[in-house]
Amino acid sequence: MAEFDFSKRDSFGSKFGAIAAAAGSAIGLGNIWRFPYVVGENGGGAFLFIYLAFIFAIGIPVMLSEFTIGRSAQRNPFGAFRKLAPGKPWYLVGLMGVGAAFMILAFYTAVAGWTLEYIYQSIINGFAGKSSADLGQMFDSFRESSFRPILWFAIFMFMTSWIVLSGVKNGIEKYAKILMPILLLLIIILCIRSVTLPGAKDGLLFLFKPDFSKITGNTILEALGQAFFSLSIGMGTLITYGSYISKKDNLANTAVSVSLTDTFIAIMAGVAIFPAVFAFGIAPESGEGLVYRTLPNIFQQMPGGYYFSLLFFVLLGVAALTSTISVLEVIVAYFAEELNLTRKKATILASLSVSVLGLMAVMSWGTLADFEIFGMHVFGILDFTSANILLPLGGLFIVLFVGWYLGASRTKEELSNQGTLKAKYLSLFMFLVKFIAPIAIAMVFLNGIGILKF
Ligand code: TRP
Repeated sequence: MAEFDFSKRDSFGSKFGAIAAAAGSAIGLGNIWRFPYVVGENGGGAFLFIYLAFIFAIGIPVMLSEFTIGRSAQRNPFGAFRKLAPGKPWYLVGLMGVGAAFMILAFYTAVAGWTLEYIYQSIINGFAGKSSADLGQMFDSFRESSFRPILWFAIFMFMTSWIVLSGVKNGIEKYAKILMPILLLLIIILCIRSVTLPGAKDGLLFLFKPDFSKITGNTILEALGQAFFSLSIGMGTLITYGSYISKKDNLANTAVSVSLTDTFIAIMAGVAIFPAVFAFGIAPESGEGLVYRTLPNIFQQMPGGYYFSLLFFVLLGVAALTSTISVLEVIVAYFAEELNLTRKKATILASLSVSVLGLMAVMSWGTLADFEIFGMHVFGILDFTSANILLPLGGLFIVLFVGWYLGASRTKEELSNQGTLKAKYLSLFMFLVKFIAPIAIAMVFLNGIGILKF
């Protein structure tokens, strides 16, 4: 069989483009849909506090490790481990990442499809005059219905494949650059409306006032899972993107700016959602529907709400799209480079196979509502297993690989751009990836799944 021609690999066009693409991957439904819903289910402030600690002590080091692996190997995650550690079983980490990509893409595209329904409802003014309870009801009956969620899923999957097909520079980068700043502006406007609602204070207290009595082993694991999910780390997305970053860019700066932006947006989403959750009498622990139940209420309470609502859901859809393409890209890069398929064949094969799992996720509240494993429906299993199990495990092996296998001198070579940059943080970074991050991940993980009790 002919080999893939690695000299023809695509890459990002500029430093800003690379940051925008990585930020585009990180910023998405994870910040605006998943973050508020897991904060709500896990009791608020204390969860946020632990989440932030994980971003800094574990998230940023894992992200920088992924960039290092990707850029030095110039490969998809599987190929990267095989190239850097020939004949060693590290490639299994890459394989696990490809598996995680399948699961994440399946349920994520389902939620992205809900965004399309909310764009449609915005256009037809479907939220107008509805009470908070009506809006909740509207969400439930949509999600339980058998046809519309599938239609939106299929459309979203198609858009994702179409962009991935057009390649890295023309596809991914172009879309990420312009639209994300507008989304941020809109979230800030929503925050202002939300915190000036009557009764907003309870929401802010819920989000920012820690109550550590609400913390359990599972909560801590959820915080770790959410940190990984939101930063797009633990499965090789950022190994893949790292392989497209120019050898002249500063990887540490990129990792820090992407992580800070991502975290800022998640907190802003929390500030936009929780005051409204309390003001409109919605239960913070409403689960995966929280944001979709809450936001239309805010739009109804603001001048020009019709247009805001439309614009917001369109931009949320775009934010989701810049994330789904980054997940699909992992599978496609793997199929193309390892199975030597054309980009087109790889994309079609990947999206069709993800769709099988995805359709089951979509139908989790409708046709497949009674189908449960361990008391969870298909959607819940994919969401829980990928974020809380596969990503932390992947992250654990990624930091161990950089800390103990690549080692300080090869890592320094890559992070200093072959000696052109100073990389003064190197010894701190090596300490984090050799000891702090792996021990912390292992403890949270074993404690969370109940194998060890601290
Ligand atoms: N981080 C994205 C979000 O917050 C989702 C995502 C994209 C992702 N690529 C990933 C999550 C890789 C985990 C791993 O919406």
